[in-house]
Amino acid sequence: MCGIVGYIGPKEKKEILLDGLKELEYRGYDSAGIAIIEKKKLNNFKAVGKLENLANKTKDYHSSGFGVAIGHTRWATHGKPTELNAHPHLGEKSFVVHNGIIENYQELKHKLQKSGVTFVSQTDTETIVHLFEYYQKQNMQAFEAFKKTVDELEGAYATLLISEVEPDTIFFAKNGSPMLVGFDAQDIYFASSDTPIIGKAKEVYYLEDGEYGYAKDGVIRLYNENGEKAFTKQPLSKDKASAQKDGFRFFMEKEIYEQSRVMSETMMGRVNDDSIYFEELDSEFLKDISAIKICACGTSYHSALASSYLFERLARIPCVVEIASEFRYKEPLLDKNTLFITISQSGETADTLEALKMAKRAGLKSLSICNVDNSSIVRESDKAILTRAGIEKGVASTKAFATQTMVLWMLSVYMASLKGTISQDVVKGEIDAMIHTPKALLVNDDLHTKIHRLSKRYLHGHGFFFIGRDIFFPLALEGALKLKEISYLHAEGYPAGEMKHGPIALADSHLFTVALMPRTIHYEKIKSNVEELSARDATILAISPLPFNLADDFVQTHYDSHPMLEFFEMMVITQLLALEISVRLGNDVDMPRNLAKSVTVE
Ligand code: M6R
Repeated sequence: MCGIVGYIGPKEKKEILLDGLKELEYRGYDSAGIAIIEKKKLNNFKAVGKLENLANKTKDYHSSGFGVAIGHTRWATHGKPTELNAHPHLGEKSFVVHNGIIENYQELKHKLQKSGVTFVSQTDTETIVHLFEYYQKQNMQAFEAFKKTVDELEGAYATLLISEVEPDTIFFAKNGSPMLVGFDAQDIYFASSDTPIIGKAKEVYYLEDGEYGYAKDGVIRLYNENGEKAFTKQPLSKDKASAQKDGFRFFMEKEIYEQSRVMSETMMGRVNDDSIYFEELDSEFLKDISAIKICACGTSYHSALASSYLFERLARIPCVVEIASEFRYKEPLLDKNTLFITISQSGETADTLEALKMAKRAGLKSLSICNVDNSSIVRESDKAILTRAGIEKGVASTKAFATQTMVLWMLSVYMASLKGTISQDVVKGEIDAMIHTPKALLVNDDLHTKIHRLSKRYLHGHGFFFIGRDIFFPLALEGALKLKEISYLHAEGYPAGEMKHGPIALADSHLFTVALMPRTIHYEKIKSNVEELSARDATILAISPLPFNLADDFVQTHYDSHPMLEFFEMMVITQLLALEISVRLGNDVDMPRNLAKSVTVE
């Protein structure tokens, strides 16, 4: 979730970089840095925290004359947010910035260390600059060395490299992470999204995966696996607000689409071949823990509730989940051997923070699962695991929920392994499912079009019931919350088996039922519950991998080998449904009425 800016030309480079990075700071970053070569000399500045720290640090520096420049804002993935881990990373004579994940960096790092290279950071990125210099020292031309480096990288990356060896050139490569090149006469800009260069460049070329090359003397030489490639520039949008949405209509829509990608970041370094690892935790911290209590609000509460099934089923630890605002005033009985977990996207939710303080006063160990580093909840907790979703702008939470749930799933497997409550085969099965999660979260055009089409049936009526069993009950709660937040229609989530204990009295053709019918958990039971509703003429939208004849509408899912894969695929469908209904009703999707992104009052 980092941001990149680059520039080659005669203008004041520091201002171009800082200005561009400012546009990317909305994603929420923890450190930033710039590197500039002018008059064949390298200058480099880094600062932890907000961009203004970097701006202060560089206030007396001004670049002049022709030069090359790269800058980066970082959202820590490999290694803590420190200056050493901030980009650009230095070799002996070169600097690199990078977004994405170099999956084989350990392998490359070992190879380079064996040849005498010393690493100073904990990042995967540093391997790029050392690998480049390693080849360059073997008498390769700079571009040849860069190409050889790129050939060896596995994973996702967008990267820019500058070197005193060729002080008038920026080398670039893109695979899996966004990068574009902007043009204004002889000036060339690079960025990881449009906004940093809007108002500066007039034309743009969006690099495609597998493309690499260099910028020099006002031109770009572009290559892919077939050799040098011609490309066509297009006019650059002048509208920054829409550019921040990367072409999506709403931030919420963009964030739904992002889920597949951010999930890989959530898992990175934590999901290994045959084990789960959290650098944030140790077995000592979890020693003597005999129960878990989780407190959260809203969507985070739903994620917590889903995880309680996993903690009990896999780790065999009693797990109770409470809405933070209720917990605070119930005079709860707290046991010192209970691990107190708080879940929060923002890390600032007043009720959750207060619940955490209460638990700490009672002497419980505390762990927070949060998307915002250094937030109040993170600072207050003994330990924190960051969800790494990147900043979430839509008030209706989507990718935060997905990543919270993933962290909790990983944590349940981690604790189960520590306690020895599941076999290694089960661990491997869980890991295999985790690795497939990004695929289950992908939104394809057919799915989105289908949901757009069927949404028109669901604009009226006297209410929605989202129903599910087991982990699909919290998902039903979350589906209903999403819908009511942005459509303003009444929606409830319900355990499917509870319908006949009262709510079924509401069933008629104007009652819309969204039925979550996974193959892997209690399919026959939920099928009976839905049949009961259908017999009362309720309008049924069934979401399932298995065809269901009584449904008025049916959305087929495809990832049905593991309950959590079914969970995540169905989650995306309910999010898109809420989005499309809201759009049809003409509502403000990103800023729904009466709501705030961060609820800092009780
Ligand atoms: O930042 P938090 O996760 O602590 O926020 C909790 C709720 O306020 C939040 O999840 C809210 O329900 C969202 N609007 C859901 O979309």
